[in-house]
Amino acid sequence: MSCAAILVAAGRGERAGGGVPKQYRDLAGKMVLERTLERFLGHPAVDDVVVVINPDDAAFFAGIDAPVLWVNGGATRTASVRAGLAALESRRPDQVLIHDAARPFVSDRVISDVVDALADAPAALPVLPVTDALLAHADGNMCESVDRDRLRAAQTPQGFRLDALLNAYEKLGEASAHDDASVALAAGLEVHLTLGEAGNFKLTTPEDFERAEALLGKTDMIYVTGQGFDVHRLEPSDHMYLCGVRLDQDFGLVGHSDADVGLHALTDAILGAAGEGDIGQHFPPTDPQWRGASSDRFLMHACQLLKNAGGALVNADITLICERPKVGPYRDEMRARVAELVGLPLARVNIKATTTEKLGFTGRREGVAAQAIVTARMPEDV
Ligand code: CTP
Ligand code: MG
Repeated sequence: MSCAAILVAAGRGERAGGGVPKQYRDLAGKMVLERTLERFLGHPAVDDVVVVINPDDAAFFAGIDAPVLWVNGGATRTASVRAGLAALESRRPDQVLIHDAARPFVSDRVISDVVDALADAPAALPVLPVTDALLAHADGNMCESVDRDRLRAAQTPQGFRLDALLNAYEKLGEASAHDDASVALAAGLEVHLTLGEAGNFKLTTPEDFERAEALLGKTDMIYVTGQGFDVHRLEPSDHMYLCGVRLDQDFGLVGHSDADVGLHALTDAILGAAGEGDIGQHFPPTDPQWRGASSDRFLMHACQLLKNAGGALVNADITLICERPKVGPYRDEMRARVAELVGLPLARVNIKATTTEKLGFTGRREGVAAQAIVTARMPEDV
């Protein structure tokens, strides 16, 4: 059995707000029509794809590189389907699937079920039960409740044996219909119902785009972690910087920059999440320009690299390991400063401190160690 898919994409998308027709709009980094095309080009039962377009949209579809046949549609969906069917005249597949380009989330399962149903029926479409209570009204006045158990909401792709659908469209004459199953029914064809999917919704209104973006935000983003570790020596001084806060003490941290061990660990953690090496590669200690540099700059650079990679920081957790200074009195200030620097809400920044029970170099008060772990949201395809 050969099978062709016709994607109708010649509409104007008025309800979605006009402007660029909805099938050409970007959805989380990829055009709606390209997403829909992928669903069909990647399905093993589909041999051929026809895309019905409006010639006015050339600027939008010209950039799409896909092995499909492009044909011009008409002023109504029905006219566009007819144009798609006409384009299949020479190819004459056994089956045809007709799908709204504005349904980019159709699953393999939904497509397969329709194709499979065509083995036993001349027409098939995915439907969903109606879950809202329904009322019929006239002139805006409620007049009667409708028994929803009898009703189904129709989705696409709607599948047909080609000959049967061509006959049905011939019988329709010059008239229009909302969808192809109703053309088939009007022609007396037996229409088989398969199970649709709530996710296979049609992008119709601006709210549908918001919903789609929220959905993709969930599926196309992954969470990565990065960790960092750093140590600096303690020596007599009159101040030190720790987690971006100046502490006036009679000892300080020694290093090439301001030696803010907390911010260095955090910078390395962020570089880790971004896959960008470590702080020494970006700011070599041999480079005189970083002498005494404020570690804010290192941190900001790491944040920028993460952003460039399409990432967004989700949280940061820093552990300071030292006998001195006592972190407790400064903890809130450090937390606020780090949150401000990396652009996170307070609740997503945590500063912890621990001693090592007087053991080791931190126990002997020779230095301060810091660990940091961050989580970042990143695009899945890099
Ligand atoms: N369609 C088409 N040709 C038309 C009208 C619609 O190919 N003359 C397509 C649309 O591009 C869409 C599908 O049919 O993929 C479903 O139609 P609908 O959701 O109504 O899309 P639009 O007509 O573009 O939107 P609107 O009605 O809000 O203007
Ligand atoms: Mg329309």
